Amino acid sequence: MKNASQYLWWHTGIIYQIYPRSYQDSNADGIGDLRGIIERLDYLQWLGVNVIWLSPVYPSPMADFGYDISDYTGIHPLFGTMADFDELLDVIHLRGMKLILDFVPNHTSDEHPWFMESRSSRDNLKRDWYIWKDPGDDGSVPNNWLSVFGGSAWEWDEHTRQYYYHGFLKEQPDLNWRNPEVQDAMLEVMRFWLEKGVDGFRVDVLWHLIKDKQYPDNPPNPDYQAHMPTYDQLLPVYSTDQPEVHDIISRMRSLLDSYDDRLMIGEIYLPIQKLMLYYGVDNKGAHLPFNFQLIDLPWNAQKIARAVDEYEAALPPGGWPNWVLGNHDRPRISTRVGIEQARIAAMLLLTLRGTPTIYYGDELGMRDVPIPFEEIQDPQGLNMPDKNLSRDPARTPMQWDCGANGGFSSVRPWLRVDEAFERENVQVEREDPHSMLSLYRRLIELRQKEQSLITGAYEPVECNEQTIAYIRRESGHLAFFVLLNLSNGSACFDNENRRINGFVNIATSPHLEGRIISGKINLNANEGIIVRLDQ
Ligand code: GLC
Repeated sequence: MKNASQYLWWHTGIIYQIYPRSYQDSNADGIGDLRGIIERLDYLQWLGVNVIWLSPVYPSPMADFGYDISDYTGIHPLFGTMADFDELLDVIHLRGMKLILDFVPNHTSDEHPWFMESRSSRDNLKRDWYIWKDPGDDGSVPNNWLSVFGGSAWEWDEHTRQYYYHGFLKEQPDLNWRNPEVQDAMLEVMRFWLEKGVDGFRVDVLWHLIKDKQYPDNPPNPDYQAHMPTYDQLLPVYSTDQPEVHDIISRMRSLLDSYDDRLMIGEIYLPIQKLMLYYGVDNKGAHLPFNFQLIDLPWNAQKIARAVDEYEAALPPGGWPNWVLGNHDRPRISTRVGIEQARIAAMLLLTLRGTPTIYYGDELGMRDVPIPFEEIQDPQGLNMPDKNLSRDPARTPMQWDCGANGGFSSVRPWLRVDEAFERENVQVEREDPHSMLSLYRRLIELRQKEQSLITGAYEPVECNEQTIAYIRRESGHLAFFVLLNLSNGSACFDNENRRINGFVNIATSPHLEGRIISGKINLNANEGIIVRLDQ
């Protein structure tokens, strides 16, 4: 157990993900930008979050909306200038907040100068910076590996008559991380931003960096079903999660550790036991391997409670937990579980032990916005049109006010705004004590001030088909009991072994607040409460 002074800003902070294209447009081009974010910092401070993670803002041809980078140390003119970035970083720091950048080391854009050199000839000095392979005798692809975005992961290059590997789009060739020059060059990129003072990185698809040296075929996935992305036809056992990736992570981490208190978050979609390895030996890997269980699991009380227990039990000694409800790749929580349960989800996210990450707009209850086919922009949606995989619906403009385009932009935005924006926006919800925004703000406020919620132990109390109940307790501080009804039927909590005495501090249904609790608790459908326990 740490004492309070051993907790760092990222243990106690709340992370807020901004998808910059969709946050605030300041120059009337329909696309959000850095100055727009600067304009909205008052809001973020009011909301109470203190760590901002920006999805990529680097120069990019935008084949994958910035996750295809053509210059790792620049700023895309769509988003502003380096001076704008420097100002953003400064003003964030002046407010006592932190800034995390998205770092995308697995692949570059095919327009990155490194790749242009690499593809120019077989004997170019950067040839081996990417993954080039000969065709089979019949011209076939080197193996059966698939691209996450559909089709083969190999693209034929007629000029040099070899295939190159791309785990994502063909416009996103994978770097060869087994090449020490690539490692050095990418660490230099990290150093560039660390020197500027950024507080850390969210590292994109960290578990993809190293592939099996022999490039064997991946085995078929016996559980594949037709509605799933084509990528899931195979189990990516040779193309991802190779043991040597941990050597790379530890190099990255050593670099971060040569600066004060910088943070590495890893984007890793793996089962719990494998995920835990990304904390590294002696916690010298990623500080926070993203924990996506609340995104991946069905919304079921028993399954979630079990997963929390399993996760807590699997954490390495000294490993700090984290929880995520949504991001720019997945359907929004309000759409996935419904607006009522999204309130429960907020309460869960902000009362579990570990650093929470909030996806912009979820605090308003923003939903996936239906995007007509002819307006789809996301390559994942366009490449597999029959599977409904477009990520655009979760990336729509932030809803600020009742004005044109929800206050996001004075011109038509790059993606349409939710038609409900006049009812669901920051301006309206701020004034309504029962809104999702007010609930988020109060949950954040409570979490930021109560030591038991920040660092206290997680003590499971009970779970059944409908409800999850747990206590958060830090010795010497007030403890909290959380009871969440994940069902749409009424539920009763009556545990003889654990009498609950206290009063309701925050409830999803405000009329419950202030109520004295002594023993039995009845909850309506979709209700959740946080009880401040008597000493
Ligand atoms: C990550 C990003 C996603 C992107 C992909 C390829 O999963 O979150 O948006 O498309 O990597 O970079």
